[in-house]
Amino acid sequence: MKPKVYVTRRLPKVAWDELIEACDAELWDEEFPPPHEELLARVADKEGLLCLLTDRIDADLMDSAPNLKVISQCAVGFDNIDVAAATARGVPVGHTPGVLTDATADFAWALLMSAARRVPEAVDYVRAGKWNTWGLTVLLGQRVYGMTLGVVGMGRIGQAVAERARGFNMRILYYDAFRQPEAEERLGVEYRSLEEVLAGSDFVTLHVNLTDETRHMINARTLAMMKPTAIVINTSRGPVIDMDALYDALKAGVIVYAALDVTDPEPLPADHKLLTLSNCIINPHIASGTIATRTLMAQMAVRNLIAGLRGEALPNQVNSL
Ligand code: DGY
Repeated sequence: MKPKVYVTRRLPKVAWDELIEACDAELWDEEFPPPHEELLARVADKEGLLCLLTDRIDADLMDSAPNLKVISQCAVGFDNIDVAAATARGVPVGHTPGVLTDATADFAWALLMSAARRVPEAVDYVRAGKWNTWGLTVLLGQRVYGMTLGVVGMGRIGQAVAERARGFNMRILYYDAFRQPEAEERLGVEYRSLEEVLAGSDFVTLHVNLTDETRHMINARTLAMMKPTAIVINTSRGPVIDMDALYDALKAGVIVYAALDVTDPEPLPADHKLLTLSNCIINPHIASGTIATRTLMAQMAVRNLIAGLRGEALPNQVNSL
């Protein structure tokens, strides 16, 4: 008999086919995530769970599923999962690093360029019929080539963003909880304190995991350290930025622009005050969203799931058991 698993959202076909070959799968086939109580009830008799970052995977859920052998997250970030609780119960947790690095780094750059050159405002300007002549001072933005990029979090994605910055002849400062000598050597990035990165950069791009230390790392105090012409880009997790402080800073001209792929909360309500600002770009958490990348993520999540069901180490396991 195939092991019973629960899958909290539809997967690309190639990944789903691989999954149902090995598992007796039940799918939550809805656009929105399963409500928590529903998820608890559905997982109760399952041996495996394949989930997304929108699902809260807590100790209660694990206790309600006594046969659970593996939790496989279809994302690289896993702050929605109580990993300590999983470890305490001997349950391996899988995630999908690596395959989304380039797509996410490309998108951080798409946001950086869009904010620097005010692309969404320009699109709106044309659509609103305001393009009546060529103007010397219309929609002026910020220079990118040769400027200084500040990378906060020099992991896989931070390094891929820095790699792209070399083509723009940028000086690259970085802060990370751990110094990265290999990246310094390979990419010419310069290690600085967080304060020095914020004060010295024209663009600040965030690539940290969400932890107690990084929650609200960008707040009224740290925003005030930045240049008034600074642009902040966030493709990591929304709560790394204090949204109220960001709104105040953008409104008061403490910094010039922000471009966010992630917000707090998600989704951001349509009447949120940040959406009233023309100097803030907000996207719906799509940085890894290419067809190829999402397919690879799903396949990786399926392979982690199957390994866990077989009692093997997951190819990409978050916790050591
Ligand atoms: C992740 O994988 O953690 C991203 O936020 C979505 O791809």
